[in-house]
Amino acid sequence: MQPKFSRTLVTAALPYANGPIHLGHLAGAYLPADIYVRYLRLKGEDVIFICGSDEHGVPITITAEKEGVTPQQIVDRYHSMNRDSFAKFGMSFDNYSRTSLPIHHQTGQEFFLEFYRQKILVEKSEKQLYCEKDRMFLADRYVEGTCPVCGNKEARGDQCEKCGTWLEQTQLIDPKCKICGTTPVVRETKHWYFPLGRYQKQLEEYVNSKKWKENVRSYVDSWLKEGLEDRAVTRDLHWGIPVPLQGYENKVLYVWFEAVLGYISSTKELSQKKGDPNLWKKYWQVEDPGQANQATRYIAFIGKDNIVFHTLIFPAMLMAWNEGGKSHYVLPDAVPANEFLNFEGKKFSKSRGWGIDLRDFIEVFPSDTLRYALALNLPESRDSDFYWKDFQARVNNELADTLGNFVNRTLQFIQRYYDGKIPARGKLSELDKWVIGEMEEAPKKVGKLFEVFKFRDGVVEAMSLARLANKYFNDSEPWKSRNENPVRCATTVNICAQLARSLAVLLSPVIPFTSEEIWKMLKLDGSASAAGWDSASEMKVDSGKEIGRIKILFTKIEDTTIEEQIKKTASATAPEEEPAAPAVAPIKSQISIDDFRKVDLRVAKVVSCEKVEKSEKLLRIEVQIGPEKRQIVAGISKHYKPEDLVGKNVIVVANLAPAKLMGLESNGMLLAASTEDGKLTVLTTAADIDSGSIVR
Ligand code: MF3
Ligand code: ZN
Repeated sequence: MQPKFSRTLVTAALPYANGPIHLGHLAGAYLPADIYVRYLRLKGEDVIFICGSDEHGVPITITAEKEGVTPQQIVDRYHSMNRDSFAKFGMSFDNYSRTSLPIHHQTGQEFFLEFYRQKILVEKSEKQLYCEKDRMFLADRYVEGTCPVCGNKEARGDQCEKCGTWLEQTQLIDPKCKICGTTPVVRETKHWYFPLGRYQKQLEEYVNSKKWKENVRSYVDSWLKEGLEDRAVTRDLHWGIPVPLQGYENKVLYVWFEAVLGYISSTKELSQKKGDPNLWKKYWQVEDPGQANQATRYIAFIGKDNIVFHTLIFPAMLMAWNEGGKSHYVLPDAVPANEFLNFEGKKFSKSRGWGIDLRDFIEVFPSDTLRYALALNLPESRDSDFYWKDFQARVNNELADTLGNFVNRTLQFIQRYYDGKIPARGKLSELDKWVIGEMEEAPKKVGKLFEVFKFRDGVVEAMSLARLANKYFNDSEPWKSRNENPVRCATTVNICAQLARSLAVLLSPVIPFTSEEIWKMLKLDGSASAAGWDSASEMKVDSGKEIGRIKILFTKIEDTTIEEQIKKTASATAPEEEPAAPAVAPIKSQISIDDFRKVDLRVAKVVSCEKVEKSEKLLRIEVQIGPEKRQIVAGISKHYKPEDLVGKNVIVVANLAPAKLMGLESNGMLLAASTEDGKLTVLTTAADIDSGSIVR
């Protein structure tokens, strides 16, 4: 049975106030979170949606130095910029706070002191570089020196980017302070550590008690398997939350330690704004810990780079607090982390201007078009890509031609032939009953998918009702029945108006602005966002009611407009592939040995090979499998020239049902290893094994 919750707390990762928000951020965490929250509100649930700016950390101080301004000026600028962008794209946060506020500093210090007093924290001494001129310990990014391994003169304090070696900053030869250029000295420094390893067992139990998305679970499992280690919670830095202990005057709380607590302080701020200072406790704490699951369901939306903080570190901090017995916090029930969104095939890069930020986007296109296109392309289980051409196709074919067209033709019909008033229904035909049946089912189908964080599928499902509605309009031919059978015609048009209302509700979580437009055009009371989710299955548009002024919901995007955007993109320098860890696809669910034995893998010798004409990707390959000759068509022409393969022993799936590719029969499949970013290598065996040999 589904556990029953009285309320839902939803948080979305606090973005750094160190640059503008772009599409990748939206797709990673904020859009799915917003769709979810809007859906829950429509369901009439008690939900709050919390976010804010993460305003501390070394990268912010570096930006400030580069620009010759204070860190506060940097965060002020990006906090308001990002808050405004989010608002324009309809992110319906109940509060958007900032971690430089006193209420957050208090919260961070309160947690630190609680752990300190409970003797949970461990103090350690270490050697670090200290700049006597700037009177500070140098964070890794503040030192530069010669790499002891490859001799690169610009190695950073933690890593040489040239040879990839991880370094201790004291290993650098001839280190220099990046701020003033003088040579720093080595000094002892002390830091407090949070003993994450002590919570390993509890964390394992916690994680096992949850049903998390496969991509999240596989990250968590690999961290747990490696074993959890102590993590420093203080830093030698001037920008951040001061460590509230004597002897620690020049140190701040490490940003990862306090940023996650920003969710709590943001909720506290919301409570103050509402004049109910204790309200936050209702969402974050439980009076009776035994009843933890009965109170608040906590869902933390994030991007994949934040998984460890939200599935292990933050929960461990809350566990540690709860052990103190003062009060009891709820732990995340789900952490629906997304993978990354790429832009035209490459990673977003602020420094190289690769990508588009929200402020530029909104100048040209309405925000719902982006919400819709991104929703259908969310990196829910693997990285995905934003392409301008896809975006154009989605907007033109789906938003304009399907949804927009249906609503428009329905309303035009009412305007023109019924004097702008909804006509009454007569007796229902089989076709009417069919489409009404689809409408009645839709909220359940869509809702089920949203509830398990399958937003892509949910939006597809909602949009499919628009497609059916269009089909219903076509098949009913009201333009004919208008003269031949007026009652029939009126019935059709009435049902179309019901469908338009239903679509406004169902699509309101994803395209909220458009839904309200439809609402206004139908001159309905209240708003689509407050109409009640389940009402989407009902026929609530009264006949005889007048409709409002008709507006075109979506204008099609011209080729020239999209080409301009593509040109702009191309003029930015595409980022070079960074030596970041490659994205690894999550492991699929388990199969039995019998499942595996069904696959007949054989060694095959490539006899001949040629490019398939007019195809960019395909190679036609002739292989020998024992006595048998076969043709296989494989999409590897970008990676292999035909002559590279001839004579090689490859591995093929020999019992795969034949398929036709560009008119050519392919009889089997060739095995190749590939990475998410498009590298590929064909599996081969040593030459001295006979073709036809079984691979197992
Ligand atoms: N600001 C960080 C990021 O954007 C961390 C966000 S999640 C938080 O990656 F909970 F730590 F705030
Ligand atoms: Zn210096």
